[in-house]
Amino acid sequence: MDKMGPVQVVGLCGSLRKYSYNGMLLARALFYAKLKGAECIRYPSEHLILPLLNEDSLLDGVPLVVRNLKQIVGNADVLFIATPEYNHSISGVLKNALDWISYKGNPLEGKVAGIMGASTGQFGTVRAQIHLRQILSALGVHVIEKPQLFVPYAAQAFRDDGSLSDHHLETIIEQLVDICLLNAQGKK
Ligand SMILES: Cc1cc2nc3c(=O)[nH]c(=O)nc-3n(C[C@H](O)[C@H](O)[C@H](O)COP(=O)(O)O)c2cc1C
Repeated sequence: MDKMGPVQVVGLCGSLRKYSYNGMLLARALFYAKLKGAECIRYPSEHLILPLLNEDSLLDGVPLVVRNLKQIVGNADVLFIATPEYNHSISGVLKNALDWISYKGNPLEGKVAGIMGASTGQFGTVRAQIHLRQILSALGVHVIEKPQLFVPYAAQAFRDDGSLSDHHLETIIEQLVDICLLNAQGKK
């Protein structure tokens, strides 16, 4: 990690959908992070289409696509992770990616994470984010506690310009970004 340079942010989205609401939410968080001087990479969701982790098939080593992912998140100071809620938990895509990232050396130890989620239901990924926090804490990630960012009724939540129609939610995104960046600066 560069001690002097801008905070490095990597954004991951746990949905593979082209017009994913979580992708839109992640884009909004990255918009604010860039505005505040961070260097941001949005990890392409299609690169999260990884083989399912099977320790029996690892005799040839960790696949290149996984090594790239581990390197990119390892270079980050802050992770933004936007999770969809599938059956009250995170997506299989995201869980598989996190398992791979942690395999054979965990590059996430000590990273700051801002987690968020959008769902079409009324709870806005509350239940998925409880699971995501638990997984990230197993990986030694410093997940920001507050504010918590839940976007319910996601199909109605976004304006055409990518902003949230609920002003309160926009404020929460910006606050979460600020706290993530401040925490990361404090660790530099
Ligand atoms: C398999 C599956 C399970 C789902 N389970 C939930 C759920 O538990 N709670 C919820 O609010 N929405 C649930 N949904 C609806 C998602 O919130 C919705 O599909 C959302 O658009 C997914 O996020 P995305 O737009 O980023 O892909 C589920 C969708 C799928 C496909």
